[in-house]
Amino acid sequence: MEHVHDDSKTIALLLLVLPLGFLPALAYFGLARPPAPPPAAVVATESPAEAVVRAPAPAAIPDGPLGDAIRRGKLIVTQTYETLPEHVGSTLHCTSCHLEEGTRAGAAPWVGLPGVFPEYRARSGRVDTIERRVNDCFERSMNGTALDPAGDDMTAIVAYMGFISRGVPAGRTPPGRGFRHNESPPTPDRAHGAQVYAQRCASCHGADGEGQAPGGRYQFPPLVGDHSYTVGAGLARLDTAASFVRWNMPLGMGGTLSEQESYDVADFFIHQPRPDFARRRSDWPRGGRPADAR
Ligand code: HEC
Ligand code: HEC
Repeated sequence: MEHVHDDSKTIALLLLVLPLGFLPALAYFGLARPPAPPPAAVVATESPAEAVVRAPAPAAIPDGPLGDAIRRGKLIVTQTYETLPEHVGSTLHCTSCHLEEGTRAGAAPWVGLPGVFPEYRARSGRVDTIERRVNDCFERSMNGTALDPAGDDMTAIVAYMGFISRGVPAGRTPPGRGFRHNESPPTPDRAHGAQVYAQRCASCHGADGEGQAPGGRYQFPPLVGDHSYTVGAGLARLDTAASFVRWNMPLGMGGTLSEQESYDVADFFIHQPRPDFARRRSDWPRGGRPADAR
């Protein structure tokens, strides 16, 4: 009698516990919802005291319509003038400057940006959405025209930025954002900059700085001339260009030029002929115009 009583108790308990135990198991094996993306990892770069949150591996791009948008966005940012010729006047890619597909610290990475926009920007004197910020680079850095902010191509670009930002806390300035700015910049020597250019840059960017396109496709982007960025671009500013070069150029050898050499060579190439950008004259409408603004 007692045994029967015990067994029925156990069965009743099992019936009660089993369904409860099943729920976490379902969630664990990912049956209840799609698997979570691998968490982004903070990695160090060679620039001291800087880290960037590394993008998840391309294999983690999901299937379906969202994955299609992310892949389209990645194609646009890495093959910009080929993909959107009607919006790009230069022969640049977004990733000519936003290196390593927009994930490199000290080269204005996009990782974490969807979590900090909209934000106030002194150059425009207004609160900008991320779409407006992207269009700024289309107009100034690509010497092109703005995309429809609600169109499929802009949505694809923002979807790609969202993808490489997965796992990054929102609302906090991501590590390695922008460029590292020098508090006490050296006085540039442009003539010496021309020598640095010839020795350290010309082999890739060409003797005249207009890039190299063997077979018609730019392998090395132009730093100067009609196919480069405009005078209104961030990279036309001395501090920004010098910082970009100091930590990223020659490509793969960032950090090998001295601070002085970086300023010298930046002062040399930013002042070579390049497209104008008329609207730069109304930049910084509420003040805060930096000393190196053009
Ligand atoms: C010639 C170089 C260059 C090219 C090409 C370029 N950008 Fe930029 N981009 C910059 C610079 C410089 C900044 C300013 C970063 C700073 O001052 O912190 C910037 C800033 C940005 C920002 C804001 C970054 C931040 O931290 O707030 C976004 C977003 C952006 N670019 C997207 C793009 C996209 C998308 C493209 C291609 C359509 C593109 N950029 C092409 C140089 C470039
Ligand atoms: C080994 C080849 C190589 C050398 C040497 C090199 N670069 Fe670059 N540079 C590149 C490539 C490639 C890119 C574009 C990155 C990409 O598409 O991933 C680039 C991008 C740039 C850009 C941003 C895009 C543009 O066209 O404006 C600037 C500015 C730049 N380099 C300046 C320099 C300077 C200054 C030097 C010399 C100190 C230099 N580079 C040396 C290969 C090189």
